[in-house]
Amino acid sequence: MKSILNNRPLLAEQINEIAEVAGYLWQKGWAERNGGNITVNITDVIDDEIKSLKPISEVIQIGKPLPHLKGCYFFCKGTNKRMRDLARRPMENGSVIRISDDCAGYVIIADNPVKPTSELPSHLSIHDYQISIGSGYKAVLHTHPIDLIALTHNQAFLEKDKLTYLLWSMIPETRAFCPKGLGIIPYKMPGSIELADATVEMLKEYDVVMWEKHGVCSVSENIMEAFDMVDTLSKSAQIYFTAKSMGFEPKGTSMKDMEELRIAFNLPK
Ligand code: 13P
Ligand code: ZN
Repeated sequence: MKSILNNRPLLAEQINEIAEVAGYLWQKGWAERNGGNITVNITDVIDDEIKSLKPISEVIQIGKPLPHLKGCYFFCKGTNKRMRDLARRPMENGSVIRISDDCAGYVIIADNPVKPTSELPSHLSIHDYQISIGSGYKAVLHTHPIDLIALTHNQAFLEKDKLTYLLWSMIPETRAFCPKGLGIIPYKMPGSIELADATVEMLKEYDVVMWEKHGVCSVSENIMEAFDMVDTLSKSAQIYFTAKSMGFEPKGTSMKDMEELRIAFNLPK
């Protein structure tokens, strides 16, 4: 079958990793129907032949200009496509896009004209920001973890850094592997520019942000790391719920022990 992945091991490796994570999201129960989305900046593994490919879609507007995305290529989950299908057939449930020269729109170039996720404004705004600060972050993951979303249905947990400290205090790994904690964005319309702008603002301080009563958005060098941070936070939430269901309020690691861990692991304040 004709595919952009043929004879391109580096690109195929990236897409396989996305497919692997999509499978985990489904297994975790975080990806009901078409829930969640993934985009990865694959510009590094794009060769001249791909650059010369003719578009297979019209120019589609992003909704806001993103000046740092000039010349960039992304793999995007398709809107309305299922993670469990993406896991088995990534190029039928996602597509590769090229940002237009004016940085205000994009075209689909391969393999099929699968329209990218409805959360593309958030994803591309995040990629634009990551390029502008030279973070080297290439992957954006949005998913619907049951436990973390449930916590945002309680007003008490929406206060700044309340959830971060609660989740850090359940098991040391959470602070070690999600060292910037969890930012919270008050509920906004899915797919909106307003949500995109608020997410970029919050990612200046955090690597993972919660969209209240909706899901999480995580950014990292690669999609596996972005998944691992959400998985670690979810594990902490599970420990919290398990203790609660055993009938007690978990005590949590003390601030003193957490501070010692921060220093030993050389983590940010
Ligand atoms: P898409 O199917 O458009 O990716 O939307 C899923 C989702 O989770 C929206 O927030
Ligand atoms: Zn969603």
